[in-house]
Amino acid sequence: MAYNPQLNRNGELQHLLTIEGLPRAVLTRILDTAAPFTEVAEREVKKLPLLRGKSVFNLFFENSTRTRTTFEIAAKRLSADVFNLNISTSSTSKGETLLDTVDNLCAMQADMFVVRHASSGAPYLIAQHLAATGRDHIHVVNAGDGRHAHPTQGLLDMYTIRHYKGDFTKLTVAIVGDVLHSRVARSQIHALHTLGVPEVRVIAPKTLLPVEVSKMGVHVFHDMREGLRGVDVIMMLRLQNERMSGALLPSSQEYFKYFGLTQEKLALAKPDAIVMHPGPMNRGVEIDSAVADGGQAVILPQVTFGIAVRMAVMSLLTGQSA
Ligand code: CP
Repeated sequence: MAYNPQLNRNGELQHLLTIEGLPRAVLTRILDTAAPFTEVAEREVKKLPLLRGKSVFNLFFENSTRTRTTFEIAAKRLSADVFNLNISTSSTSKGETLLDTVDNLCAMQADMFVVRHASSGAPYLIAQHLAATGRDHIHVVNAGDGRHAHPTQGLLDMYTIRHYKGDFTKLTVAIVGDVLHSRVARSQIHALHTLGVPEVRVIAPKTLLPVEVSKMGVHVFHDMREGLRGVDVIMMLRLQNERMSGALLPSSQEYFKYFGLTQEKLALAKPDAIVMHPGPMNRGVEIDSAVADGGQAVILPQVTFGIAVRMAVMSLLTGQSA
């Protein structure tokens, strides 16, 4: 197996920084571990003691609704002590470096950091720092770094696809929208390839695709109607306005006309195709409300599965799976 800084000598997860390079067996183990946790996520079972006595610190340097909250719920349902650092009132706003903040939280006996940061590589930096300072027992989970990776989103998306579609090896999956700025799309593409999806399509205007998109092993479509024909799964992306520089789109109305998912465009996919969106959704820009709230959308189940998948990741990292 190629060296991967996320895995320990036994090939077990030490950190979760990216899906890229993780073997299929590791991804499948996370999905399998998540399955029984859905009962806890759906509150049929209240709490498990797997992380009792562990301290999980949520460090969100960027806004979040779904990821931060579901990490908190997941950690609490595993009986961990959870601390949400208020970044705007933390010492980083007074000029303290990220690593000094981390060192101080380590001194408070942290066991795990869940990190979202606008800079790609910030969770790697923390993991490297912990290794260099002999604190390998502390785990880092990337909750989204810049445009690089959002591994737990990619994993919960795979869980959702497996739940509704079963076998990955028979699927055609389309990812639609702002691939250029999307850490979610990168994580999805790596996961879909690793799990054996034979055809991954991306549908976007040229201005919202990376220059070397063809090297990502995907089929590129600029015409949404063509790209959606016969697909099993449609994964919509949010327009990442906060990461755009300059005018990449004429207007949101024009974007909706060509790349927004409407009932009429959805009808080109297979009749049982599912529609996914990582959120936050821009209704009337990326997706029509009739689709977002319609029978083929699995957008809210994605959020619930996210709790189970984050429980699985945290319990596997700490060697405490059920
Ligand atoms: N999907 C996702 O990362 O959403 P949040 O920004 O709300 O966490």
